[in-house]
Amino acid sequence: MTAQKYAISEYPDTVEIYAQLKNLLGQPLHPIQRARMQEYLTYFDTRCNRSKSLNDEAQKIIPGGVQHNLAFNYPFPIAIEKADGAYLWDVDGNRYIDFLQAGGPTMLGSNYKPVRDKVIELLQTCGPVTGLFHEYELKLAQLINRFMPSVEMFRMLGSGTEGVMAAIRGARAFTRKKKIIKVGGAYHGWSDSMVYGLHVPGTGRMEAKGIPSGATANTQEFFPNSVGALRAKLILNRLLGGTAAVILEPVGPESGTRPVPFDFNRKVRELCDEFGSLLIFDEVVTGFRLGMGGAQGYFGIKPDLTVFGKCITGGYPMAGGVGGRAEVIQSFAAGIGGSGERAYIGGTLSANPLSCAAGYFALLEMERTNAPVLAGKAGDRLTRGLQAIIEKHNLPFVAFNQGSIIHLETSGVMLLDLHNPLKLARELKPRRHMMEEMGAAYMASGLITLAGSRMYTSMADTDEVIDEALNKFEGVLASVEGQ
Ligand SMILES: Cc1ncc(COP(=O)(O)O)c(C=O)c1O
Repeated sequence: MTAQKYAISEYPDTVEIYAQLKNLLGQPLHPIQRARMQEYLTYFDTRCNRSKSLNDEAQKIIPGGVQHNLAFNYPFPIAIEKADGAYLWDVDGNRYIDFLQAGGPTMLGSNYKPVRDKVIELLQTCGPVTGLFHEYELKLAQLINRFMPSVEMFRMLGSGTEGVMAAIRGARAFTRKKKIIKVGGAYHGWSDSMVYGLHVPGTGRMEAKGIPSGATANTQEFFPNSVGALRAKLILNRLLGGTAAVILEPVGPESGTRPVPFDFNRKVRELCDEFGSLLIFDEVVTGFRLGMGGAQGYFGIKPDLTVFGKCITGGYPMAGGVGGRAEVIQSFAAGIGGSGERAYIGGTLSANPLSCAAGYFALLEMERTNAPVLAGKAGDRLTRGLQAIIEKHNLPFVAFNQGSIIHLETSGVMLLDLHNPLKLARELKPRRHMMEEMGAAYMASGLITLAGSRMYTSMADTDEVIDEALNKFEGVLASVEGQ
């Protein structure tokens, strides 16, 4: 038997999942019983005093009192002091099981010692940055190429957002076409042209405050999984300057919150070939989390360009980049002296030795330990356990996973869309608030999730950790109304 290489042990039955999600959205909300919710909120008042006072101070100088978009702010952000393996500790000494994983990069577990030691070694010799070439740039690029052969060349940048910006620029420069098509609801970072159809499919410029309409004039979205709608856009775009690229997250938007049928990526690949557009895989989340070969290896699809982030530096700063066909990536040539021929990108700290070394050693460790598969097994155990709890308490909630990416939909807010604008207008706020409450209740029970509906597992999540987590989840899920 060959060893399992990818994190997904069994591809989710998307027809069944959408049926369950539809049922959830058709039901009234099942929030936590009011008295229990009050108890959960009391936790924050009585056990998180130092977090609270730090946050009160931060409110005066930091917008919203916290810098990271994924930090919980209901009822207020918790300040973290220590991270190790599967756990985080806050400044008041409370311990949490960490299923946020900083949004996905720490798949070896938090603050993983073997990588930390290598980073410290590098810092002691060359420091974090010189602005010149360092051997680890080369080593990291070669390693990525070994794992993902479609990445013939690689250009490192500061974040996933920057990687997406570069991929789009490169695609336009190479194809000499204009339009970029994305999937409605998908998040590809916060650059001007990508804040379009964000989170909720069909909403176009709803979140584009501060972005001139010209910046999104050549961005288009299509409803998730609608290959027919994508084809129609590609046809129309022939008259409108052509489609430079289709960009997508290979498991579906928002880390697969709306999962794709297994053959979706292949169909999009075929359409891109038919219309002479590049296919950009945004593997910011899936890159190395689904397996060292990424989602492209798992699905067996070769994108023209791949965007990287998160795992590429193993949780260390400046995680981003773009790779792919040499003839496209070549246009990002760096160094002093320009000819006007290149697609301009840059960054003072891009590809600094610290990030490159951290990425290089983290990826090697992930390969050595088979971390994507171990994290995937933890994701399977967590998901199966959640499904059993949901069934036991006869709840309409939905749990599913793509390996170490786990979705627990209780309010269904992430599944609303503009197909039904009235429902969206009426239900967005209460469903979002319920998700916030669920997140706060999990947190008060010692579980950190992503916004109360998504989780990432890591190699550090042993069976014991997952079973401890399931106990805590059961406490919360058993306290919702209407069972
Ligand atoms: C799929 C996807 N693309 C791009 C980004 C942006 O990456 P970054 O936050 O590094 O700018 C994210 C961030 O969460 C993401 O999930």
